Amino acid sequence: MTASQIEQPADLDDVRASYDRVADNYVEMNLGDIRTHPWLQAAMDGFVASVRGLGPVLDVGCGPGSVTRYLAGHGLDVTGVDLSARMIEHARRLHPEQRFAVASATELELEHSSFGGILGWWSLFNLPRHVLPGVLESFARALVPGGHLIVATHMGDGDIERTEAYGAVPVSWTTHLWQPEQLSALLASAGLEPVAELRLPDGGAGVRGLVLVARRPAGA
Ligand SMILES: C[S@@+](CC[C@H](N)C(=O)[O-])C[C@H]1O[C@@H](n2cnc3c(N)ncnc32)[C@H](O)[C@@H]1O
Repeated sequence: MTASQIEQPADLDDVRASYDRVADNYVEMNLGDIRTHPWLQAAMDGFVASVRGLGPVLDVGCGPGSVTRYLAGHGLDVTGVDLSARMIEHARRLHPEQRFAVASATELELEHSSFGGILGWWSLFNLPRHVLPGVLESFARALVPGGHLIVATHMGDGDIERTEAYGAVPVSWTTHLWQPEQLSALLASAGLEPVAELRLPDGGAGVRGLVLVARRPAGA
């Protein structure tokens, strides 16, 4: 599926404005630094080893860019994109040597077979359930054969309506929870084969975490 065929979420402007509002606190609280979480770092190190030499990498929903920077520090040719202009302002300020752009995951015109790796690292859970499959398909098409997608998200059933986040900042977004089997099925429908799965207990925020890695089959 190409970006022009993906339905734009009805709440996209609210989600964008919400992340613009929380961006300063997100940076202040040093969230997103995988070096403080050995298991997330281990998953990312596995991703780095798997995509090395396959081509450019796209960090979709990169926030202030700490993972983008981590990947670049490990020798990958990486670009970060994010819905929130304020997040990207921080990313450019904190990591001036990196490439960043403002865009929604739902509007990226990704060229076929152009990336060795794509990340949806804690950044796809706001996408409505009927929108996510098309976004994953667009990612799958954009991977080279053997290229990998890594997704981190919140695990569970149902949706959580968030009205505040990251230090009681007012927000308006829905967190869509996914069971591993549901998300794995979407990745399979997108044409990707499973590589790894990491389930994390509730770290205090009331929800469990899930990391899935999948790849475009080498012959596809
Ligand atoms: C929890 S933060 C994670 C940021 C970063 N990946 C990290 O780990 O630090 C979620 C990010 O996803 C971005 N985001 C939400 N919806 C998005 C969309 N439709 N397209 C691109 N980015 C999106 C938000 O702006 C925010 O920066």
